[in-house]
Amino acid sequence: MPEKEAYAQLEHKIMALRENSRTGDERKTLDEVFDRDTILGIYKLMTDGVVDTIEYPVSTGKEGNVFAAKDYDGKLVALKIYRTSNATFNRISRYIEGDKRFRGIAGSKRKIIMAWASKEFRNLQRLKDAGVNVPTPIRFHRNMVVMKYIGTKNGPAPTLRNVVLEDPQAVYETVIEYMRLAYQEAELVHADLSEYNILYYRKKPVIIDVGQAVLTEHVNAKDFLKRDIENINRYFRSLEVDIMDKEEVFQTVTGAPK
Ligand SMILES: Nc1ncnc2c1ncn2[C@@H]1O[C@H](COP(=O)(O)OP(=O)(O)OP(=O)(O)O)[C@@H](O)[C@H]1O
Ligand SMILES: [Mg+2]
Repeated sequence: MPEKEAYAQLEHKIMALRENSRTGDERKTLDEVFDRDTILGIYKLMTDGVVDTIEYPVSTGKEGNVFAAKDYDGKLVALKIYRTSNATFNRISRYIEGDKRFRGIAGSKRKIIMAWASKEFRNLQRLKDAGVNVPTPIRFHRNMVVMKYIGTKNGPAPTLRNVVLEDPQAVYETVIEYMRLAYQEAELVHADLSEYNILYYRKKPVIIDVGQAVLTEHVNAKDFLKRDIENINRYFRSLEVDIMDKEEVFQTVTGAPK
């Protein structure tokens, strides 16, 4: 298909998504997400054979949107697009500062948000390699991350927040084990872990939203970890799980001697 025509088709499709959004707020965020550079970026993912079609919006978050898309084999993939807005920039810069992997990426906000997408991609890869259950990363490009879709064609897997667990004790223990693997094998602290950023799929927790995860050597890593532990304990305590006290979890996760 000639380039111009393909681009026009994509724009058309995005207009349709916009028309289908129910609220003015939804439309506004879609307009913010699909700026011209982003549309060109999606177009690149399409010509590179990563994404064939965008199917439907899955979520509108604080700094980005997640869409269900299809690859050229017809398999669903998740496409996460960070908005290149000031709000996104302000929230993420404190995680980028102090991460040696991002030394030297000063410059435009857009560049930093692009670095953020690459950070989410790399964090997913490290976590996957460490044995943590995360969506397999497929590609990043500019402000976008493509990863495996967690769910069925009827919709994404629910978050822990929105599911009734069969065996909450086992899920609690698995989450702690993932935090341990993340810390000791991937050398990462999630830094925004809670029941909102864990999906439940095929009876196992899946950790998502890892853009802000920091290396364990980050100056604030231990504080972020403590906050993660408090969130996780709070959530599972509410399910009447027999939880470990937070110091014990900290020791288990970091492997620090008692
Ligand atoms: N790989 C995936 N497969 C299926 N659904 C996903 C996937 N990744 C994210 N989602 C869906 O999108 C939602 C938001 O994802 P995520 O937390 O990564 O984005 P976010 O922009 O940081 O959102 P928020 O600000 O709400 O935390 C998830 O709760 C989930 O419903
Ligand atoms: Mg999230």
